[in-house]
Amino acid sequence: MSRIPKISWQEITPERVYLNRRQLMVGAGAALSAVALAACGVEPPAAAPAPASAAGESASPTATPDTRAPAAGATTDELGDPLNDFEQITNYNNFYEFSTDKQSVAKLAANFPLTPWTVTVGGLVDNPITYDMDDIRKAFDIEERIYRLRCVEAWSMVIPWMGFPLGKLLAAAGPKSDAKYVRFQTLHDPALMPGQNSTWYSWPYTEGLRLDEAMNDLAILSTGLYGKDLLPQSGAPLRLVVPWKYGFKSIKSIVSIELVAEQPNSLWMDAAPNEYGFYANVNPDVDHPRWSQASERRIGELGRRATLPFNGYAEQVAGLYDGMDLRKNF
Ligand code: MTE
Repeated sequence: MSRIPKISWQEITPERVYLNRRQLMVGAGAALSAVALAACGVEPPAAAPAPASAAGESASPTATPDTRAPAAGATTDELGDPLNDFEQITNYNNFYEFSTDKQSVAKLAANFPLTPWTVTVGGLVDNPITYDMDDIRKAFDIEERIYRLRCVEAWSMVIPWMGFPLGKLLAAAGPKSDAKYVRFQTLHDPALMPGQNSTWYSWPYTEGLRLDEAMNDLAILSTGLYGKDLLPQSGAPLRLVVPWKYGFKSIKSIVSIELVAEQPNSLWMDAAPNEYGFYANVNPDVDHPRWSQASERRIGELGRRATLPFNGYAEQVAGLYDGMDLRKNF
């Protein structure tokens, strides 16, 4: 099991310069894999086929860079922090279905087919329904939400998402009285998502929220960012964004949303239950067993900044956890 390096080359190279260099570096697989970090800090044992190499074998050599220009809009979050730019947001991704190497995901996911795509909403609901993406866009008003995304690995970005409140979709489905949790699932198709050939993880990627968390207005289903449809590496065509929780809760490329009575398990809870809990609220006072959560590195900045409780959204969400021990419910 390799260790998380204390410093990565993004930290010593300005992000813009680094991203331009990446075009030249992309063929240097050995150099890239030498600095590859495991998302969320869990790595396959040496004997297991690493998702990165499995994905690399099936990468399309014809993948072309995206040319869509970001839309003009607000340039800071509500705290006054500047947005990360489109290139940063779409070239530094955790998406284990494609690779464990953040800088390789965009290329490896470039040809991931987004149509046809259906999302099933079912389980303990009065009105089970299967949407295609056109249905979703017609049924829900898409708005911009500028949120901080804080990864459990202690890096963060500010992202102008396009999306709609998850609570609106759940209300339309009509949760039954015994529905207490929401379980989300990513597409499971190892032919399209080669990382799913790794036996180290319990594919498909699943995540969960308590129903009252899911109904909070901050929790959105995102269809885009910077005014454009999501690219595959960002979780197209539909992903969850829960800004007060560590990024691994924000599950990508969703095909199923199910209302359930019991707290669901997630892929990360299965992989390392002592490291990744169900709640995963951003909390500077509760360290990851292998690193501090007191500070974070904003992508594009050189120094570190203090981690904010609930990632800066305490006013809106702290009440959801009244009376709970957040060290125990990590
Ligand atoms: N969803 C799926 N299906 N697979 C993943 O590997 N990674 C998670 C989350 N959602 C992941 C996922 C993690 S660890 C983070 S930090 C965020 O996606 C990263 O989102 P981003 O790549 O858009 O920044």
